[in-house]
Amino acid sequence: MTRQGVATPGAEGHASSRTENPGASIEAVAEHYDVSNEFFALWLDESRTYSCALWQPGDTLETAQLRKIDYHVEQARARGAARVLDIGCGWGSTLRRLVDVHGVQHAHGLTLSRAQAEAITSAGDSRISVSLESWSDHVPEEPYDAIICVGAFEHFARPDISVAEKIAGYRSFFERCHQWLKPSGWLSLQTMVYGNALREDLNRFIATEVSRESDLPRMAEVAEAIERRFELVQLRNDREDYRRTCDEYLVRLKARREKAHALVGEKTTKAYERFLSYSILSFHVGSVDLMRLSLRRIDRPRA
Ligand SMILES: C[S@@+](CC[C@H](N)C(=O)[O-])C[C@H]1O[C@@H](n2cnc3c(N)ncnc32)[C@H](O)[C@@H]1O
Repeated sequence: MTRQGVATPGAEGHASSRTENPGASIEAVAEHYDVSNEFFALWLDESRTYSCALWQPGDTLETAQLRKIDYHVEQARARGAARVLDIGCGWGSTLRRLVDVHGVQHAHGLTLSRAQAEAITSAGDSRISVSLESWSDHVPEEPYDAIICVGAFEHFARPDISVAEKIAGYRSFFERCHQWLKPSGWLSLQTMVYGNALREDLNRFIATEVSRESDLPRMAEVAEAIERRFELVQLRNDREDYRRTCDEYLVRLKARREKAHALVGEKTTKAYERFLSYSILSFHVGSVDLMRLSLRRIDRPRA
């Protein structure tokens, strides 16, 4: 891992972790996030945060995204910390806010998207580093004071694995977070989960055209995977917040459709519009929920 540059593990590094990380491959994840930085900039907020915001009356998408980031910083008890890890850091909005606003000395991000990693590195901030690697390949130089993981957990299990394999993969993830955190550290996790839906209801279009090799967790699977490693201290289901966030994304994308066509073509633009429309409906009817979990490390776990 390099401090400021984009660190890339060898192909072997990723392959060797396949049994432990039954999630989406780097190729499948990159396919979604490496479409074009300019395309995402058309419809995300200016910090390019790509996950459910936290809305209050009077918010714009920009303020609701900052409110969400600040919420996770608070839940992870990350303010003023020496070292914070952001797993699935996107284009780096949380990393930046940690060092600029919350007095964190060093923020490290993990992503599987080269475009995202390069965007973060090109800002040239020595307080921020990023590595192009999966959580399952990450070997920290020192323990972290706090961990944040927002909108990435949805990529940590493939649809073709058994429920037992899925839970085992999630368990490995929480084991790693447990190992990387200092005693009494916190993990703030945000993820979509199946709500009033079955696994076989996974939207075929999204699973094959937009977010390949990615299945959603059930809340019960997450609960089983954290046992004796993390204590669930606070849980919020904010699915209406995600409906509203996707609504806003769709309005922005439609308003800039011509520019989107020029950047990525009509087919891709249409696919993202369809993806956002399905997402709005899923959150509205509650087939998909949006969970924010505040998890405290159990320092002396029973074997
Ligand atoms: C929807 S984006 C969320 C980005 C950011 N957290 C935000 O809220 O804007 C999902 C992120 O998870 C990352 N990701 C997916 N699978 C991953 C894995 N196995 N290890 C590390 N990052 C992963 C993607 O590269 C991407 O940066």
